[in-house]
Amino acid sequence: PEVWLTLKDSSYYVRVNALESSDFSALSHQVRTLEKKFSLCGNRLLYCSTASDFFCPITEHSVRSNILERRVGLPWHRIVYEKPFGKDLVSAHEINACIAQYLEDEQVYRIDHYLTEELVSNIALVRFSNCIFEPLWNNRYISHVQIILNEKITVGNRGSYYDAYGALKDMVQNHALELLALITMEAPRQLTGEYIRQERARVLNKVRCMDALLGQYEGYRNEPSVNPQSITETFAALQLFIDNPRWAGVPFYIKTGKALHKKDTSVHIKFKQVDCLRVQQGRPPANCLTIQVTPNPSFALSLNVKQPGFSHEVIPVAMEFCHSCIFQGHGIESYEVLLQEVMSGEHSVSVRFDEIESAWKIVDSIKDMNLPLHEYAPESFGPLELINFEN
Ligand code: BG6
Repeated sequence: PEVWLTLKDSSYYVRVNALESSDFSALSHQVRTLEKKFSLCGNRLLYCSTASDFFCPITEHSVRSNILERRVGLPWHRIVYEKPFGKDLVSAHEINACIAQYLEDEQVYRIDHYLTEELVSNIALVRFSNCIFEPLWNNRYISHVQIILNEKITVGNRGSYYDAYGALKDMVQNHALELLALITMEAPRQLTGEYIRQERARVLNKVRCMDALLGQYEGYRNEPSVNPQSITETFAALQLFIDNPRWAGVPFYIKTGKALHKKDTSVHIKFKQVDCLRVQQGRPPANCLTIQVTPNPSFALSLNVKQPGFSHEVIPVAMEFCHSCIFQGHGIESYEVLLQEVMSGEHSVSVRFDEIESAWKIVDSIKDMNLPLHEYAPESFGPLELINFEN
């Protein structure tokens, strides 16, 4: 309650129509009045949690009414755009060109809240700061990788937004592909800002989609504000390859959907099977590194051990790092981290435009496949056709 009171007393509300330039003058006036009243230093952060159609007008009107100035020094003026940035490659280019007329790229944060999830920001760190992983992180030892972003929730009251976007644009173009980039990028010179963005962009540019399966949950067309004849996908499964020496031949599977059996955001890195002379019946199970983002943030590595007793059987056991068991009380929300990083000027939480371009190229290529839409039961694993897809 104390925190809320402080927050409440320092919050002000000005209603603005994003397309009405005169509304921005009122906002500008309010900002200046408050800065003066509280002797603020003049740092300003504009946060656009709006559809991307409004990014250009909001930027233009904010700059024209002096809420934001084109500047890189202090006090800083920054702007955040929530994903998705555009609806396709063409619209993303238009928006970016519009913004570039008014602001320096350094002032712009195209954000993806997955990049500040505790376990996601651990991926690169665990990879590059433990020498046991990096030598194995390639097509000699890894057989395939699964990236899962399953949701139990339906579209709820976000029907009108979601129906215009769907799973590919809402989840794959940003969250899923950014996860893929973090898992597959080459080692950045430093684990910060521009170095990470450079490597993410480089690998995303080499990703190509081979196959995809799209689905829609039964009852989606009856959701509020959804077109009753909608052909928007609420589920997508993809098979992707990366055309570089490290990953040639390794399939990457992305799976995401709404109204599935449970919430599960995880990455499964499946290693190749080994030959083992001790095992009489077949080869031992392949090792797997599982990164669980939600629920129960953890890293788990499956190891093969001997079944106790006289048996020669090999059984897999998990070596687990449970985040909450070790770091109690450190469950910081990804949006808390995001705001903090933007205020301190850390750019790795912001997606560079060339990353966005590559991601749209992948999604646009899937859209061009004109794939059929398979219906699936709510609370299921997805369309039944998934069985053939994964084989
Ligand atoms: C948002 C999508 O970016 O991410 C939503 O627009 C989705 O549709 C949400 O539900 C999932 O985020 P999280 O953090 O709950 O996995």
